[in-house]
Amino acid sequence: QAALPKGYTIRPLASDDYERGFLDVLSVLTVIGNISKAQFLERFFYLKAHNHEYFTLVIVSSEGRIVGAGTIFIERKFIRNTGLVGHIEDIAVDKNQQGKKLGLRVIQALKYIGAKTGCYKVILDCSEKNVPFYEKCGFQRKEVEMAWYC
Ligand code: ACO
Repeated sequence: QAALPKGYTIRPLASDDYERGFLDVLSVLTVIGNISKAQFLERFFYLKAHNHEYFTLVIVSSEGRIVGAGTIFIERKFIRNTGLVGHIEDIAVDKNQQGKKLGLRVIQALKYIGAKTGCYKVILDCSEKNVPFYEKCGFQRKEVEMAWYC
């Protein structure tokens, strides 16, 4: 298991992480939009009410800022004897904090949650560029991602 830098912690997303820069960290992924605190809280409390299915973790720096984040969503299937599949989503590390094994640490923690909740596999979609990172995190290339934009 990769260690976090001194003073850094990893924990579930909290309702006051809006002020700690959670959305700024996600902006390394894509356009975030102008999300108000009320919008953030509405989504936060929805996810909290479904916290057997959604687990969002954040890494907090020694200065109290959010510097990394990631989510695992537990899908409930009929196949595989009503099996569970974990979907890893929205892995993000602040630009100035990349390369310190924070991404690896988030993935390790999300894989642990997937295994503990009883998933038979954990999957994710990523760009070609991120394949080496996920291979270092123990994933292997499988199938093809398809998308349809509504
Ligand atoms: N190419 C090759 N190797 C890489 C890359 C890369 N693009 N990124 C990381 N690695 C390697 C590191 O060198 C390290 O290897 P080592 O153990 O031999 O030293 C290992 O992977 C672990 O790297 P970390 O330091 O944990 O990576 P980092 O904290 O920088 O996080 C991440 C990686 C999450 C991809 C980060 O760069 C980031 O936020 N990028 C922008 C957003 C993004 O693309 N997120 C992923 C979207 S896919 C999804 O969410 C499912």
